[in-house]
Parts: sequence; structure tokens; C-alpha cells
Amino acid sequence: MEKIILLALSGSLRRCSYNTATLEALAELAPEHIHINIGDIGSLPLFNPDREDESIPEVSQLKAAVGESSGLIIASPEYAHGISGPMKNALDWLVSGEEFLYKPIMLINTSPRATHAQAALTEVLTTMSGNVVEDAYVALPLLSSGYDKSGILNDLQCVDALATALNRFVTYINP
Ligand SMILES: Cc1cc2nc3c(=O)[nH]c(=O)nc-3n(C[C@H](O)[C@H](O)[C@H](O)COP(=O)(O)O)c2cc1C
Repeated sequence: MEKIILLALSGSLRRCSYNTATLEALAELAPEHIHINIGDIGSLPLFNPDREDESIPEVSQLKAAVGESSGLIIASPEYAHGISGPMKNALDWLVSGEEFLYKPIMLINTSPRATHAQAALTEVLTTMSGNVVEDAYVALPLLSSGYDKSGILNDLQCVDALATALNRFVTYINP
């Protein structure tokens, strides 16, 4: 089976982030031919269009990781009804490049009540010509669960929801 490389980005920098834990769990439960890289957006500088022509290693690494992937998986929290700052910052660095265009995107929401940020994120990603795959959307009620990666992997409902969404997502992928 042809190998599929996906890039997963968490919008939370929190040490015990549910979003990051979910991406780590997904990377572990993915079948062998699907490789999920977890990207780092926490060390990106604040977006400044004046710096877009500079060679900034963190930005170059992010763009390269996006370019090498056949699709993106984004799990990002809601803060004050908005997209998390780190995620919006990362996306702004990707706006003017070629790497992001038309990428299939799977969205994971670890807090189903957080509808504002998901709607805003979908709008931003679509405006950037990303291909948000609605069939692959997954919402998991993890808030207050206390779950880390292992907690998620030990919860059959979570595993089933994530595996089903990932299976749907890869049907949209051209490796
Ligand atoms: C400053 C702040 C603002 C928040 N605002 C919202 C909000 O508007 N809506 C919501 O559903 N949750 C809100 N939350 C809850 C977070 O989305 C929630 O804690 C989430 O789990 C954080 O993601 P993480 O576990 O990956 O760090 C907020 C949390 C913080 C710290």
C-alpha cells in the first residue's frame, strides 16, 4: 500500500493539551501505511508580512512539512470564541506560499461546545484555498476528561471515532 504522509498541527501550546494528546493518539492508532508527523507551531515568530522574504528556520520547516504532506490534520481549541493565537499565527505564515494550496484538511474538535472557533477556522482555511473535508470532521467531548494520549487510546469510543474519521479522510488523499 502506498505510504501516506500527513501533518498534524495542534493549536494549543498547553503541556497537557487535549488537542495535542488527540493528535498523538491518532498518530499511534493510524495504520502502518499512514504516517502522521506532529508539527511544531509554538516556536514560530509572530507573523509579520515584512519578514516574509527572510529565511526564518521555523517558518521554512513548517512550510517544508506542509509541502511534504498529502494532507493536514488540525486540532485547535477555542479561546474567547476565537481561533487560538498560535494556530492563526501559523496559518498566516502559510497564506502566501504554494505549500498549503488545495491541501485536504481533517478537523478535530476536542470540545463540541466550541463551535465559534471551528466555524472561524473553517472560514480561514477555506479562504486560504484549503480543502476542508467535512466527512472527516470529528468532535470528541474531552474537556474535563483528564485524558492524556493513553486515556484516549484506552477509550473505545474515542478510538473508533478517530479511526473512522481518519479512514474517511484518506479516501480524499492523493499521496
Ligand atoms: C483564555 C481561555 C479562553 C477560553 N475560551 C473558550 C471559549 O470561548 N469557548 C470554549 O468552548 N472554551 C473556551 N476555553 C476552554 C478551552 O478551549 C479548553 O480548555 C481547551 O481544552 C483548551 O485546549 P487544550 O486542552 O488543547 O489546551 C477557553 C480557555 C481559555 C484558557
